[in-house]
Amino acid sequence: MGVRIKDADQLKVREDVFDEVTLLALYKLVHKKWLSAIGGSISTGKEANVFYGERDGGGIAIKIYRIRTANFTTMSSYITGDRRFSHVKKAKKELIFAWTKKEFSNLARAREAGLAVPEPLVWDRNILIMSFLGEGEVPYPQLRNVEIEDPGEVYASIIRDIDTLYNKAELVHADLSEFNILYGDQPYLIDMGQSVTRDHPRALSFLMRDIRNINRFFRSRCNARSDIDVFNEVTGLDAAEP
Ligand SMILES: Nc1ncnc2c1ncn2[C@@H]1O[C@H](COP(=O)(O)OP(=O)(O)O)[C@@H](O)[C@H]1O
Ligand SMILES: [Mg+2]
Repeated sequence: MGVRIKDADQLKVREDVFDEVTLLALYKLVHKKWLSAIGGSISTGKEANVFYGERDGGGIAIKIYRIRTANFTTMSSYITGDRRFSHVKKAKKELIFAWTKKEFSNLARAREAGLAVPEPLVWDRNILIMSFLGEGEVPYPQLRNVEIEDPGEVYASIIRDIDTLYNKAELVHADLSEFNILYGDQPYLIDMGQSVTRDHPRALSFLMRDIRNINRFFRSRCNARSDIDVFNEVTGLDAAEP
């Protein structure tokens, strides 16, 4: 286990990793006892880092959306100091906070519908804390790295999940693939920051893309159905093959 957080000073060690906003949010979460230790980094993605953490000895996953992205640093070098643009920095932050909150509520909504997703525990600013999916401190592998014993069964279960997500939670994952499914005792859908409600103007095209990704992955592994067949079943529509 990594840094045990007894007080704020112990987080300062990581100032190189965490910017001021993130440190403040972490302090707050520690103070409110949502978090007692931060362990190693599990993943460094395009927009977020995921860390293993502990709360009262139990494992949690800490997803931290980066405030400083490469793009923004370049952008801000042109606009900081120019008072006319101070709102841009603020707007960017607000957007990231909104994104974090959205992932939290999407996960909550999916869970309410009975889906196997991480349990969202709390969010603050750019930080989302959720239940840890894994054994000990080792996360379950992504589906792409698993030698699946019964691919037909796992395929059917993921299609059922897409159906439940759409019809019960009224959400479309919108980035579903073998990268965003962890496989332990069963498949778990993760990474729902970009998920949209069914009334989003692009919901159906996102749904089709999710189905295509899953079918593409399983086609070489089992008898996957046609994209349009799954799409029509999930939506109750009668779309023709494009
Ligand atoms: N709740 C969790 N439990 C265990 N590992 C997780 C959890 N959430 C994310 N991870 C790990 O972090 C990786 C990236 O998480 P993800 O939400 O997909 O972020 P990104 O937006 O960077 O793709 C996952 O593939 C997984 O290895
Ligand atoms: Mg992901």
